[in-house]
Amino acid sequence: MSECVETSLAETETAVFRSQDGSHPPDASGWMRPPLKTDAAAIHRLIADCPPLDLNSVYTYLLLSEHFSGTCVLAGSGDAIEGFISGYVPPGRPDVLFVWQVAVDARARGKRLARRMLHALLRRPALSGIRYVETTVGPANLASRGVFAGLAQDLGAPLREQILFPPCLFGAQHHEDEPLLRIGPFRILKAC
Ligand SMILES: CC(C)(COP(=O)(O)OP(=O)(O)OC[C@H]1O[C@@H](n2cnc3c(N)ncnc32)[C@H](O)[C@@H]1OP(=O)(O)O)[C@@H](O)C(=O)NCCC(=O)NCCS
Repeated sequence: MSECVETSLAETETAVFRSQDGSHPPDASGWMRPPLKTDAAAIHRLIADCPPLDLNSVYTYLLLSEHFSGTCVLAGSGDAIEGFISGYVPPGRPDVLFVWQVAVDARARGKRLARRMLHALLRRPALSGIRYVETTVGPANLASRGVFAGLAQDLGAPLREQILFPPCLFGAQHHEDEPLLRIGPFRILKAC
């Protein structure tokens, strides 16, 4: 397969070919696809089993699957669901993919599935205009930090951190700091 190099890259952008994402190949029986509304209850169970993630209502996962499936991804093996990422493009910021929740079932961890799901999202044609990935990760969540550090490395893009949601914004609920991690700019080039 030949590859096309897009010209007119901004000087500070890094470019990565869709076919060279640095991720591990999926397992033979592994699959990834946008979630369907029929997946919402299973996604809710997966999130419940993945502390420290906040467990949202089943209705939230129904909305994500129905209205935001283009920026969410579900991964599994055979009949089993092994991973889920929810994300969205913030209104008025069409070059940003904000990643909300990343979950990998405990039995499927350690195989860079989270990173592969992020790459799968960035390879979607509808997301070819994405130049930045943003997320919030608590300071103690080393596995999640490892996922995003690895993604930045794959993309050859800088990763910056800044204050976004400090604990005082969570009201009476005890919640750890949620600093913003911002990766980019980068550009995923089309393979053709
Ligand atoms: C975070 C999570 C999604 C990672 O999924 P995963 O596919 O298993 O990720 P990996 O095992 O490939 O780990 C990613 C990186 O972090 C590293 N890592 C994993 N666990 C770690 C730990 N406890 N401490 C330090 N580094 C760790 C890995 O070595 C890997 O780095 P590498 O790619 O350079 O080898 C998964 O652990 C999870 O679902 N945790 C619970 C929910 C959660 O915390 N979600 C993220 C909230 S922001």
